[in-house]
Amino acid sequence: MRIDKSVFVVTGASSGIGLATAKALAARGGKVALVARSGDVLDRLAAELPDSVAIVADMTDFGSVRAAVARTLDHYGRIDGLVNNAGRSYAAAVADIEPEAFEEIFRLNVLGPIVAMQAVIPAMRAQGGGAIVNVNSGTAFMTIPGYSVYSASKRALLGFSLTARMELEKDGIVVGEVYPFVTATNFGRNRMGKPGAGPTGNYAEGDTPEFVAGLIVQAIEEGAAQVFANDRIRALAGA
Ligand SMILES: NC(=O)c1ccc[n+]([C@@H]2O[C@H](COP(=O)([O-])OP(=O)(O)OC[C@H]3O[C@@H](n4cnc5c(N)ncnc54)[C@H](OP(=O)(O)O)[C@@H]3O)[C@@H](O)[C@H]2O)c1
Repeated sequence: MRIDKSVFVVTGASSGIGLATAKALAARGGKVALVARSGDVLDRLAAELPDSVAIVADMTDFGSVRAAVARTLDHYGRIDGLVNNAGRSYAAAVADIEPEAFEEIFRLNVLGPIVAMQAVIPAMRAQGGGAIVNVNSGTAFMTIPGYSVYSASKRALLGFSLTARMELEKDGIVVGEVYPFVTATNFGRNRMGKPGAGPTGNYAEGDTPEFVAGLIVQAIEEGAAQVFANDRIRALAGA
């Protein structure tokens, strides 16, 4: 899909991969609805990116997700692309998983993206097509002690994304996924759960968020089902 003059919703646009993606889309002439909880950060970004709009929403609150999409439609009159990027991890051994934390992670990483897809699909159908990119994770293909909730949430997202891709093909809506590896963002700092319970990774030495944003741009432009940050993830995926 062509990015120039198209309207995108980017969730998690206040930091890391979402922030870099919003900038990359705007640099290619895209108009971006910037969605996250940190309104002050979004307002500053909206002032920087032409034709963008800041929309505060909590992706774990489904009414808030639907309202964010409705505001985007009110503002631009159309939606061409959705980047479901907002997400967090949670570190806990299976023996210690707190059901409330599990629920929050699955609402944010799985159900929120599904509700966002459901909210944009009618507009995309009416327009004759669109692009949806769900930001997954290489950990969807890994078994890591202390990280089962996060990797299971991304495995679930993988299943819904591939199914939605098949279901929506007839409507001209292309669903794809991007699989980052360790990326230098606030992701490690924002991890829920006990410090030391999950894997240790030096995020500062990871890929740049701009690199991952480039993969998201590629997924939108090429309509690929899955775009991987490196060959290791591609091999783990069996792709
Ligand atoms: N960094 C990595 O190593 C890595 C690797 C693989 C996959 N990923 C995936 O990449 C995606 C982006 O993560 P990142 O690395 O850019 O992390 P990040 O820097 O922590 O950014 C996360 C974004 O999600 C937003 N967010 C968190 N909870 C939210 C909520 N309840 N409602 C709305 N927005 C919420 C945050 O904004 P607010 O706090 O302002 O709401 C922020 O903009 C995630 O899906 C993550 O799973 C990251």
